[in-house]
Amino acid sequence: MKEVNVLVTGAAGQIGYALLTRLASGETFGPDVKVNLNLVEVPQVVSRLEGSRMELEDCGFNTLGTVKNFSDMNEASGDIDWALLVGSIPRGITINGKKIEERADLLKINGGIFTEQGKALGENAKADAKILVVGNPANTNALIGCTHGKNESQTWMAMTALDANRAKAQVANKCNLEISDIKKMTIWGNHSPTMYPDLDNAEIKGESASGWINDQNWIESDFLRIVQQRGKAIIDARGASSATSAANAAIDTVKATLSETPEDDWFSAAVLSDGSYNVPEGLIFGFPLKSDTNGKVSIVQDLPISDYAQDKINLTTQELLDEKNDIKDLL
Ligand code: NAD
Ligand code: LMR
Repeated sequence: MKEVNVLVTGAAGQIGYALLTRLASGETFGPDVKVNLNLVEVPQVVSRLEGSRMELEDCGFNTLGTVKNFSDMNEASGDIDWALLVGSIPRGITINGKKIEERADLLKINGGIFTEQGKALGENAKADAKILVVGNPANTNALIGCTHGKNESQTWMAMTALDANRAKAQVANKCNLEISDIKKMTIWGNHSPTMYPDLDNAEIKGESASGWINDQNWIESDFLRIVQQRGKAIIDARGASSATSAANAAIDTVKATLSETPEDDWFSAAVLSDGSYNVPEGLIFGFPLKSDTNGKVSIVQDLPISDYAQDKINLTTQELLDEKNDIKDLL
């Protein structure tokens, strides 16, 4: 049986809990691939991972390989094919009497984690390792990790698949469609309230989604606001940040990367900009992506961008430039 070595940080957290069974069950990597899991947590809670390990064993998956628990990224990252970097502090919790609401606070608290993790993965993970950052602020954390990884053959991504799934769900509800009727959803830019979900280039049954919906007012007000603010709406309603849907989106991203993208579709994640669409090089930016049969990811080129869309893309670009400036000491 083939094997895949998968590292998950923050594995004892909410997203981690929802993620592990789906990584191990055969659903993500296929029924003929053994999944070896290296679970990483901070020393204070690493012992809880033993509970996760026992539960995974009790699921009885044929595809479950080894499960090892770590608090040291260097030890955990040897020979890794996939790293899912979930571990970080979510918005909405209180630290030292201060409620962490703003991404700027998260940048300072979480950015530091990714320096060490990037270095460990760059030195120890496989040359073709894929690294998906889920922990917020995901794009800038990925930039820090990627910079310290110093390993150009590895692929760093930050997750925007949840935003793309949210956008599809809103369109499906509005138009009474199946989710599978909606293709080519792009989330441009940052996984933050400045993200731009693009309905001009998305398609419904082969037609431009914005043309099909034919309600520009809904697209520019309700749709945009709901998708951009969905993370906060869930925190407000649930008292905790999205977990099942975030884990689901991480699985979607891994699957989309592993399989050749169908001709009539693409997927959304943030990758290191190469200057496509005039996005400054050296930002981790949400783009429309395709994957080939070898899991090599490339940016879909030459999509038309309206003046309205360009304004939105400029806004999210500026936010990422500001975030980069805020953590310049970590680069
Ligand atoms: P959580 O608090 O339940 O779990 C986070 C876990 O990470 C904790 O168990 C914590 O001990 C661990 N951790 C912290 N620092 C670590 C480190 N240095 N190494 C290893 N583990 C570490 O939070 P959660 O709900 O699982 O969310 C995790 C992150 O994902 C948050 O930053 C959240 O904002 C983010 N998130 C991103 C998206 C997205 O679409 N990109 C969606 C939802 C949540
Ligand atoms: C989400 O989109 O649900 C997460 O990124 C949580 C947040 O802070 O918005």
